[in-house]
Amino acid sequence: MKHRKTVFLPGINLMKLSTTSLMKFACILTTALLILSIMQTVAIIGGTGPEGRGLGLRWVRAGLKVIIGSRDANRASAAAQEICGRAGPGAIVTGMDNTAAVAASDTVVLAVPFEGQASILKQLKGSFQAAAVLVCATVPLASGVGDRGTRVLGVWQGSAAQQAAEMVPEGVAVAGAFQNISAELLAGDGDVECDVIVCSDDARAKQVAFELARKIPGARPLDGGKLENARIVEQLTALLITLNIRHKVHGAGLRITGLSTP
Ligand SMILES: NC(=O)c1ccc[n+]([C@@H]2O[C@H](COP(=O)([O-])OP(=O)(O)OC[C@H]3O[C@@H](n4cnc5c(N)ncnc54)[C@H](OP(=O)(O)O)[C@@H]3O)[C@@H](O)[C@H]2O)c1
Repeated sequence: MKHRKTVFLPGINLMKLSTTSLMKFACILTTALLILSIMQTVAIIGGTGPEGRGLGLRWVRAGLKVIIGSRDANRASAAAQEICGRAGPGAIVTGMDNTAAVAASDTVVLAVPFEGQASILKQLKGSFQAAAVLVCATVPLASGVGDRGTRVLGVWQGSAAQQAAEMVPEGVAVAGAFQNISAELLAGDGDVECDVIVCSDDARAKQVAFELARKIPGARPLDGGKLENARIVEQLTALLITLNIRHKVHGAGLRITGLSTP
């Protein structure tokens, strides 16, 4: 006599199910696993900061799997828990050290202060998945070297995004995006109502950045051309900071008019 192995799942004794029910159950389980596997995962380097946290919150709410990266795994877990609490049921978000986060996803967002960017990318170089996409949200604000946040530093490569592109392993494509979206807006519950100008020399990286932007309610991705244009986009953030100060707000953003793009 053949014995079926007893398998317990929470609240379900599979031995007691009829063959039809078992098949239905297997079908539901397979569908659930398929949905989980095709859900995009995005890792955020520097995800414990306001910008990374805000982006993470919006993407978790949109149903993406988010990995919060940090130099400290405990700090990453604490940030992930906080996002989970805010995003509500169904949220899939975990915290890891930056190295593990980068290794776990082929979509990586960089949200660290410019002064830490080169050294963190050097550390993470061996951890990127082959053919990963890196979306750089870094702005080289002069406040990082004790000057004003309303100024940007001159970057040898032209922009933070171009510096990142120079530092990632071959095969990793880079786009610059999200540099103009205020963390304050991202942390709220309303639509952000901003344009996200995406600059890249790689069509796939552009597409990934576009998809990420579309997941944020109110954000409109716009093709900003080559990666070299990230220099202009990054500088606009310094102008937005000036506007925030002058108008005593925290969420100034950009909307480009006159385009046919919806
Ligand atoms: N805040 C905004 O509204 C905003 C808007 C648009 C763009 N941005 C840009 O997005 C980036 C992140 O902004 P943020 O305000 O979130 O910055 P942040 O709070 O200063 O830094 C973000 C995270 O980066 C990590 N970090 C700090 N120093 C580092 C270093 N030297 N090396 C490696 N990692 C370091 C920290 O995480 P761990 O200590 O956990 O590793 C920190 O929580 C910046 O380049 C900023 O210009 C910000």
